[in-house]
Amino acid sequence: MNKVHGLFLVAIFIIASTKLVIGQSLRSCQTRCGNVSIEYPFGISTGCYYAVHASFNLTCNETTKELFSGKLQVINISHSGELRILKSRSYTCYNSTDLTEGTFYTTTLRNFTLSNKNRFTAVGCNTYAVMTTTIGDRSYSTGCLSLCDSTPKENGVCSGEGCCYTPVPKRRKRFRIRSRRFDGETSVSEFNPCFYAFLVEEGMFSFSPSQDLQNLRNVTEFPVVLDWSIGSRTCEQLGNTSICGQNSLCLDSTTRTGYNCKCKAGYDGNPYLPDGCQDINECTTSSSIHKHNCSGSSSCENMMGHFLCRCPSGFDLNATNNSCMRKHKPEYYGWTQILLGTTVGFLAILLVVSCVQQKIKHRKNTELRKHFFEQNGGGMLRQRLSGAGTSNVDVKIFTEEGMKEATNGYDESRILGQGGQGTVYKGILPDSSVVAIKKSRLGDSSQVEQFINEVLVLSQINHRNVVKLLGCCLETQVPLLVYEFINSGTLFDRLHGSMSDSSLTWEHRLRIAVEIAATLAYLHSSASIPIIHRDVKTANILLDENLTAKVADFGASRLIPMDKEQLTTMVQGTLGYLDPEYYNTGLLNEKSDVYSFGVVLMELLSGQKALCFEKPQQSKHLVNYFASAMKENRLHEVIDGQVMNESNQREIHEASRIAVECTRLMGEERPRMKEVAVQLEALRVTKTKQQWSDQYPELEVNEHLVGVEMLPAQGDTSTTGYDSIKNVTRLHIEDGR
Ligand SMILES: *[C@@H]1O[C@H](CO)[C@@H](O)[C@H](O)[C@H]1NC(C)=O
Ligand SMILES: *[C@@H]1O[C@H](CO)[C@@H](O)[C@H](O)[C@H]1NC(C)=O
Ligand SMILES: *[C@@H]1O[C@H](CO)[C@@H](O)[C@H](O)[C@H]1NC(C)=O
Ligand SMILES: *[C@@H]1O[C@H](CO)[C@@H](O)[C@H](O)[C@H]1NC(C)=O
Ligand SMILES: *[C@@H]1O[C@H](CO)[C@@H](O)[C@H](O)[C@H]1NC(C)=O
Ligand SMILES: *[C@@H]1O[C@H](CO)[C@@H](O)[C@H](O)[C@H]1NC(C)=O
Ligand SMILES: *[C@@H]1O[C@H](CO)[C@@H](O)[C@H](O)[C@H]1NC(C)=O
Ligand SMILES: *[C@@H]1O[C@H](CO)[C@@H](O)[C@H](O)[C@H]1NC(C)=O
Ligand SMILES: *[C@@H]1O[C@H](CO)[C@@H](O)[C@H](O)[C@H]1NC(C)=O
Ligand SMILES: *[C@@H]1O[C@H](CO)[C@@H](O)[C@H](O)[C@H]1NC(C)=O
Ligand SMILES: *[C@@H]1O[C@H](CO)[C@@H](O)[C@H](O)[C@H]1NC(C)=O
Repeated sequence: MNKVHGLFLVAIFIIASTKLVIGQSLRSCQTRCGNVSIEYPFGISTGCYYAVHASFNLTCNETTKELFSGKLQVINISHSGELRILKSRSYTCYNSTDLTEGTFYTTTLRNFTLSNKNRFTAVGCNTYAVMTTTIGDRSYSTGCLSLCDSTPKENGVCSGEGCCYTPVPKRRKRFRIRSRRFDGETSVSEFNPCFYAFLVEEGMFSFSPSQDLQNLRNVTEFPVVLDWSIGSRTCEQLGNTSICGQNSLCLDSTTRTGYNCKCKAGYDGNPYLPDGCQDINECTTSSSIHKHNCSGSSSCENMMGHFLCRCPSGFDLNATNNSCMRKHKPEYYGWTQILLGTTVGFLAILLVVSCVQQKIKHRKNTELRKHFFEQNGGGMLRQRLSGAGTSNVDVKIFTEEGMKEATNGYDESRILGQGGQGTVYKGILPDSSVVAIKKSRLGDSSQVEQFINEVLVLSQINHRNVVKLLGCCLETQVPLLVYEFINSGTLFDRLHGSMSDSSLTWEHRLRIAVEIAATLAYLHSSASIPIIHRDVKTANILLDENLTAKVADFGASRLIPMDKEQLTTMVQGTLGYLDPEYYNTGLLNEKSDVYSFGVVLMELLSGQKALCFEKPQQSKHLVNYFASAMKENRLHEVIDGQVMNESNQREIHEASRIAVECTRLMGEERPRMKEVAVQLEALRVTKTKQQWSDQYPELEVNEHLVGVEMLPAQGDTSTTGYDSIKNVTRLHIEDGR
């Protein structure tokens, strides 16, 4: 701290000394003459005084040690604009009749002016004194009269008895003083031969009648106060061009024109010098005016222009008497408060920052969601939904947030299944209905339109054997599809997996096969836009609690425009179920589903997996194995032991034949799905009529499917017709009975 102060002072000094050469040259100036100290703007030799006017040019008589400004003897100079000179009195003396001796004088005060601190005084009995001042060419006079016939008794009082005085107007530069006997009175008495008149500083003359009436002759000079100032302009007019130095103030003279300078509070020195005003060290100064008033145990610390009273830690300063008092509260309280304040402040900042971050993040998320929504065809879907003729479409558009909540943040415990095409989560919607949410793995933004069409079409399929598409969420990178939730596992699980048991009888299997076949037939030929499932397999057949089949997962399915028999797409499907013709050519048609269905039928019959790598080469691929067994009349080797019995051999044989037909190499040679459905249903009906008429009441429902027949779509079915989805035909149900 002190070091800094030091540097600061040095800096000021350097600036000041380079700025004003005056300060340096003044060092060689005479500062005293006898008892009188001399300071700038006054000075004795050239360069030592301010040359604005001659009054500041002083001379010192080295023999008498007297200081002069011109002819005026200077005895005291103050910064505040006062100056004292010694001025001789004028007098007249008389013998009994005539004036015998006397002096009177006219004084010019150079550039100084009379202060009103002076008094014009006359001493003598029966005398009058006159002072005449001039301003320009006009003159004013004032004076006083003293009449007495004997020596006054009262001492020290100038009250008109042997002594009189009158105030003096200020600003006068020139004056003349005279004293006279007051004629018409009794002649001059012995006790008072002389009459005196003089100017004197107020309080500097005390009238003593016994002495002064006789002997004032011996006292020739009296101190007179003059005013001085610099220039004739005001501080405001001068701005920063006044000669007042650092830490000083410019003050307009109150007694005349011009200005004077004054050190600021806490500084002392000559304010007319550039660096004349210096800080007063109140802590060490011996001057009683400037000394610090810290008391008690408080210690003084000097500052620029002022001082501070400091207290030891644990004490507070009482400003009333600048002493230290013990703090009311323990110190740590203050620290706790500071700590608390800081902590609260910090937390507040943290809160604000995180709020802003959250907001930014939220906005980013919102933008991202919007982006995905558009990219995934959300706009198109909305447009379609609001368009005409889609009143029977009931597809919900879910928000990403809703999906997150439904799946508990895509929690692992909610995963129902994971496959080549994505992950399926169990979701619980706000209305506590359970859904399956499928998150696809593939995202092909170039097929957005097709995807949206598919969503629209699938959502319209209201078939008891198709897992219903409830809606979708397009705000994620890969669209999410929301399906109805079927809780009894897949056909795959029943046949080969964890849920496999002997409860799945031939009757069940045949009914499931019929249901699948009828559903596929419906999809192929009944919807206004034919749908090929493309991934028919036991893992995609769900079973509900009544073992009713539900065809699921149209993720890979593609719509076939009606004027195109075949569609070239990237080959998709599952090994073991994949149509070899489709695999080789990449040409997709509904016969690919027929092939896959054949494999499913074989699985139902044999209870074996479509592809089993653990088995020997010839039985690895179920289709080949089944076909060769059929050809070589070894069907009993292939058929599941739980299935075959005495009564159903014919049906199984027939079903096996259908399965083999379905899996013919050439698509053309395979039957249509509709034919397959009819044939299988025929097997079932015969059987039901023979033996099981009352045993399975749930089958009654399925009897409606007898002789499935598709109605052609209304309207022009020859167009590609994505817009003709409104014309979706319902499965016509013909009562088989
Ligand atoms: C200086 O002051 C002292 C005491 O006040 C006085 O005795 C002396 O005569 C003065 N000298 C001059 C030159 O005025
Ligand atoms: C000048 O007058 C001031 C008071 O106005 C006084 O303190 C100082 O001592 C005087 N100086 C001289 C040399 O008479
Ligand atoms: C200053 O005063 C002295 C004596 O009165 C005189 O000789 C000198 O010329 C003056 N200087 C100026 C610059 O007036
Ligand atoms: C100084 O004063 C003495 C006595 O009054 C006088 O004789 C002398 O001339 C003066 N000196 C100057 C330089 O005025
Ligand atoms: C007074 O003085 C005048 C002139 O000096 C003189 O003529 C006169 O006689 C004096 N009178 C007396 C009474 O001394
Ligand atoms: C007073 O000062 C002015 C300039 O401020 C100057 O013109 C004038 O001559 C001075 N008068 C005397 C008597 O020095
Ligand atoms: C005044 O001067 C006279 C002589 O001129 C002398 O006799 C007298 O004592 C002096 N008085 C004082 C008070 O100095
Ligand atoms: C006075 O102030 C003006 C601007 O207010 C500045 O340009 C000028 O340099 C200053 N002069 C001095 C002597 O400080
Ligand atoms: C200042 O005031 C305090 C509180 O009233 C008091 O205890 C102390 O003695 C005072 N100190 C001085 C130096 O007067
Ligand atoms: C400071 O001291 C004065 C007495 O010197 C006392 O009246 C006042 O209450 C004290 N102030 C505080 C804040 O203690
Ligand atoms: C101490 O002095 C300063 C001025 O230096 C004054 O303002 C303050 O009132 C004084 N305090 C006391 C307690 O005397």
